[in-house]
Amino acid sequence: MAFNEGNFQDIMSEFAATPEFIREVATNFQKDLKIGLRDPKSSSMRMLKSYVGLPTGKETGEFLALDFGGTNVRVLRIKLEGEGRYEVVKKVGEPLIIPGKYDYIGKNSTVDEMFGFLARLIDEAIEGDHETKFYLGHTFSFPSTQDDLNNAKLIIWTKEFATPGVEGKVVNDLLLDALKKRGIENVVPVAVINDTVAVLLSAAYKQSEVYTGSIYATGHNTCYLESSIKDPKGFGQGGMILNLECGNFMKLTPNRFDIELDKNSEKPGEQRFEKMVSGRYMGELFNMAVAELLDEIGKNYGFTSIDMSGIVEDDTANLEKAAAIVAEKTGHKLELADLKKIKELDAAIIIRSARLVTASYVGIVWQRAGEGAITTQHVAVDGSVYEKMPLVQENINKALRELLGADADKVDTILDNGGSGLGAAIAAAMAVS
Ligand code: BGC
Repeated sequence: MAFNEGNFQDIMSEFAATPEFIREVATNFQKDLKIGLRDPKSSSMRMLKSYVGLPTGKETGEFLALDFGGTNVRVLRIKLEGEGRYEVVKKVGEPLIIPGKYDYIGKNSTVDEMFGFLARLIDEAIEGDHETKFYLGHTFSFPSTQDDLNNAKLIIWTKEFATPGVEGKVVNDLLLDALKKRGIENVVPVAVINDTVAVLLSAAYKQSEVYTGSIYATGHNTCYLESSIKDPKGFGQGGMILNLECGNFMKLTPNRFDIELDKNSEKPGEQRFEKMVSGRYMGELFNMAVAELLDEIGKNYGFTSIDMSGIVEDDTANLEKAAAIVAEKTGHKLELADLKKIKELDAAIIIRSARLVTASYVGIVWQRAGEGAITTQHVAVDGSVYEKMPLVQENINKALRELLGADADKVDTILDNGGSGLGAAIAAAMAVS
């Protein structure tokens, strides 16, 4: 079959992120930040206080880190040695869901299953030692309200998590209950932070001039150090880190695929920005557009962002690898001209994502600079989309240049791999110092 050219062009224009569009997004993002600083309820972003600023880099000692925010949960014992140095003493990890075997994140799962699973992993990480005192930092990567560093109440699940009975609860209370049930009373949670905050703490532990932390993976979100907020209950220096929860940024126009995806998601009306840019959703957007081209609207082929990477990185003349992925998922053997279109569409979705995410970073850079000059700074980013998806980093750089002009020389993004665990240990160290 040959795709309908008009339909293809229409789909491509839906996913275009023009220079005007991303500039408008950056401007609206900054406006929303400003509004939120005055009154968080008026912003589409939650702008949650984390009760922690930047570390000094001198934090030391051994801490437990629980990294809970995606399908894979990790528990680490990390020895902080100061000046950016650290050693992972022990690391355990398991998925919260193995399709066909068990599922601790779906609608039919329970609080006991989910937190019992976490407690079991913690038990493994401490190797059954129920005597030694372990201070635990918890990276909990969902929107949560805090009124100090150690208590976070889940506002709403994101990333299609659906376990009943957790929303509205203080997560470390649930964790403590589960630990108690396993006879563990020597693990003491002392800090709970978002994964973006963890990335920022981790990067700032190792180098200077980092004020923004971001996750660009299954989910998407960013935090930054807001120097105007000082709170006696906060730890660390330089002000307070605000977890923006910008996955919920709403002030940008979705296309018809975004609207359709949202309708069919676990939480319609929530997380507009995240649903346009993150790994969890890019595969679905691609899926919907491919189904339209194949005249099979509504069909679910199960494309993931990993498939998208595979297709887009195929540089062979006949696109054999791309053809194999498309055939495997859709059951269609496409002719080369159509495969080229699929690859173009794939690239357009990835590039839109990278350009929109960059616009949000620039909104933060502008906001931090205020009336003053933009200073040299690194935006620390962790996540598989940023790290591994083709086209992402080069398009971030291009969009930074487009939006910042000569100031782009002062701003770059840096990978902080594994920051979620290290950041939790640093937060725990800051809390007990
Ligand atoms: C959550 C954020 C988190 C991000 C990345 C989003 O769905 O709302 O809290 O930082 O995913 O994990």
